This record gives sequence, C-alpha cells and structure tokens, in this order.
Amino acid sequence: MKISILKELRSDETRVAASPETVKKFVDLGFNISIEKNAGACASFSDSEYKAAGASIRASAAATIKGADVVLKVQRPMIAGEKKNELAAFTKGQILICQMNVLSDSKFVLAMAKAGITGYAMELMPRITRAQSMDILSSQSNLAGYKAVLDSTIHYGRALPMMMTAAGTVPPARIFVMGVGVAGLQAIATAKRLGSIVTATDVRPATKEQVESLGGKFIAVENQEFRKAQTAGGYAKEMSADYKRKQSRLISDHITKQDIVICTALIPGRPAPKLVSDAMLKIMKPGSVVIDLAVEAGGNCAGSKLGQIIKYNGVTIVGYDNVPGRLPEEASKLFSRNLFNFLAPFFDKKMNKLVFDPKDEIIEGVKVTENGAVVHPTLKRKLNRKSSSRKTSSNIKRKKIVPAAKQKTISKRQVRRSKNVVKGA
Ligand code: NAI
Repeated sequence: MKISILKELRSDETRVAASPETVKKFVDLGFNISIEKNAGACASFSDSEYKAAGASIRASAAATIKGADVVLKVQRPMIAGEKKNELAAFTKGQILICQMNVLSDSKFVLAMAKAGITGYAMELMPRITRAQSMDILSSQSNLAGYKAVLDSTIHYGRALPMMMTAAGTVPPARIFVMGVGVAGLQAIATAKRLGSIVTATDVRPATKEQVESLGGKFIAVENQEFRKAQTAGGYAKEMSADYKRKQSRLISDHITKQDIVICTALIPGRPAPKLVSDAMLKIMKPGSVVIDLAVEAGGNCAGSKLGQIIKYNGVTIVGYDNVPGRLPEEASKLFSRNLFNFLAPFFDKKMNKLVFDPKDEIIEGVKVTENGAVVHPTLKRKLNRKSSSRKTSSNIKRKKIVPAAKQKTISKRQVRRSKNVVKGA
C-alpha cells in the first residue's frame, strides 16, 4: 500500500504530516512511502532524513499523489477558488487523512464528496481512551497552551516570577487563563512553572479540581447551569444569556488585577464565546497582555484580530494564527504520531492492506465522505438542514413576488418568468 505525504502550501503552515520517525514506522509495517520534496523543511526534517527512513522523495505534489492509496496532510487541501486547487490532483477512491474543520467548512466537504475521495477528518476523533494517542486536537492544543505563555512574555514588559533583589522586590505576574481544556491546562502548568500567580475560569465543573491540582485558583459562576454545562462528549455547551451576564460581571472585577490573560475557550462547531469585552479592555492595567488562542474561531477577546498584534488602551492583544505551527518540529512530531497511531491498528499485515471497520466507533466518528457522498451523520443532518432552509426561504421569496390578489389571474408564462427572477437573484 502506498502512503503519500504532501508539502503544506498555506503561508502560515510550518508543519508536516509525517516525521522521519513515523515514516520509518510505516515502512517497517510494510507501507510504501512517497513524500513531496522539501515537505519537512520548515519543521527541520530534511529530505535525506526521510530517504534514510525509507521514503521516496518526489519533485511535485502531482508526482507524490500518483498511485497513492492514502494521502496525509496537516491542513485540508485547497479547492477551486483558493490559492491553488490542490484537490484537483487527487483521483477518485483515494483516502485523505488530515485536519479539515468540517463542522464549519461544508464547501470543502461537498468538494471532497464530488471528487470521490474518502475523507477522514482527524479533528472529529472521539474523546475515548482508545483514541487518546490519535487525538490531534489534544496534541496540538497542548503545545499551543505552552507557547501562548511564552509568547505573552515577549509582549509583557515585566517579569513573571517574584524576585527578591538588593534593589527591591519584583512582584510575581498575575496570569488569568480563560477556558481550561487541553490548552488551558498546559498554560496553567507553564505559567506556574515560570513563577506567576495563576487563576483560571471555565464553565465545566470538572475543571475546578484540575485547576486546583495545578496550583491555580478557580473562578467561575458555579450555579445550576454550570453544573450541567458539559456535554456527553466532554465539551462545553453554549451558555444562556443570563449565565453570560453573570460570568461577565465576575470576570470584569477579576480582570482589572491581571497582567496576562490567556484565552482558550472554544465550543466545537460554533463561534468562540466572547469573554473579554471592550469595556473590560478599557479597565485592564496598562502594559497587560491578552493572548487569544481562540482567534481562529472568532476570538474570546473583543479586540483580537487573526494574525495581528494590536495595542488597545495600553493593552497588547495578540491573535497569532496557527500557534502549534510556531513550534513546527514538535508539533509535526506529535501530529505525525497521531496519524500513525490512527492508521496502524487498521493495517492487516497478512492482507497487506488497511481494513477500516465501518462499525468501529473511531471510524464512524471521523469518516466524512465515501463513494461520492457525505456519510458522517452530523454533517449529513447539517447539510440537509441547510438545503431545506434554502428551499423554504426561496419559496417565501416566490410567494412575495406573486401578490395573493393577483394569483388567480396570473398566466403560466408569468409564473415561469417570476421563477427565473428568483433563480437569478
Ligand atoms: P475545547 O478546546 O473545546 O475548549 C477549551 C475550553 O473552553 C473547554 O474546557 C471549555 O469548557 C471551555 N469553554 C467553553 N465555553 C466557555 C465559556 N463560555 N467560558 C469559559 N470557558 C469555556 O476543549 P478541549 O481542550 O478540546 O477539551 C475538552 C474536554 O475533552 C476536556 O475535558 C479534556 O480533558 C477532554 N479530552 C478528552 C480526551 C480523551 O479522553 N481522549 C482527549 C482530549 C481532551
């Protein structure tokens, strides 16, 4: 079986979907590996290391993909209308495994189905014990949480730990972590290691103990709604307007005393909750720093902008894009292991092929498209809802075009003409 690894083309993407270590592991299992020239350059992996691990180096994406059973990438291939149509080089029946952001990118899902590609979206990996080593969200968020704290130190003009010097005492920095998932927990641990005073907030009750076990102080509106805020999948629910109001009041009081705020709060498939308002930014201490890791999902902080560093009222708001990609070598190593750990259990050595059990919880969780159709139940429902709401709204428009009083006298030709008007709109 042939696995191909492509070079990432997005300008902010430094990672690669296979490391020399995982290439060797795949080769040892009996796979044939092709990798595009310079695919690992930004992650400090040279073509000669890949060659030594047993891979063949190909000069272009088309040559790399040719004859592949499985294509591995970090981010989904670009489609028609984007910088380059990477999907056009794929052939029907090939398997694509990467991060696809399918819950918010139905255009790509439909393009992938149309191209006849079997797509596995790694971000949909179920949060079960067996799948922990395959979970790209965890491996990448963990690095992002660590890097967020280090990034904050670059923009913060004071020290993090308390220091007693002959010239006087340097007070410890106060770091507030918003959202205590994988990234948040690593941010708390890193901030504590660097000697700062750490507080953290979340809407899931399980996080209280986790924060305290890392030496942080937990701050949250702990009412009835809070006690039920976790979904069966382990994620946060969208909170009510009343809860958000109470949470905002609590955060307002707390944030004025903070030096660094690390925002990591996310709700899968929805815009990130807005937790730091414009009014809060105005009362924060001059010189304080907000690192918004949720910026790709719209941001937790009112002022954050994707890929930008903004000064607002003396506060520096950092909205780095693709934070795991700021640690390219480590992020690629972990991402590659996640992909290897996903594929290896489904490899049948005797048959020398991948056998994906469609009833396996993991396969059911991540398979998005197959044989020209969208097969993932959540996405199918989402797309059906979208197309039926489109139909309903176009019916409403049509009815508006034909006033009720005139309906009896209207000719068939006029009806045809009015339909064309709606289609063309
Ligand atoms: P995430 O990236 O979806 O969200 C980050 C955090 O933001 C979450 O803790 C969430 O509760 C919080 N949040 C959402 N809305 C908020 C609001 N309005 N205010 C404050 N905080 C808010 O979460 P992540 O990192 O993916 O982790 C979710 C859960 O999954 C965690 O319990 C984690 O331990 C668990 N997990 C389980 C795994 C497994 O069993 N295989 C693997 C990885 C994570």
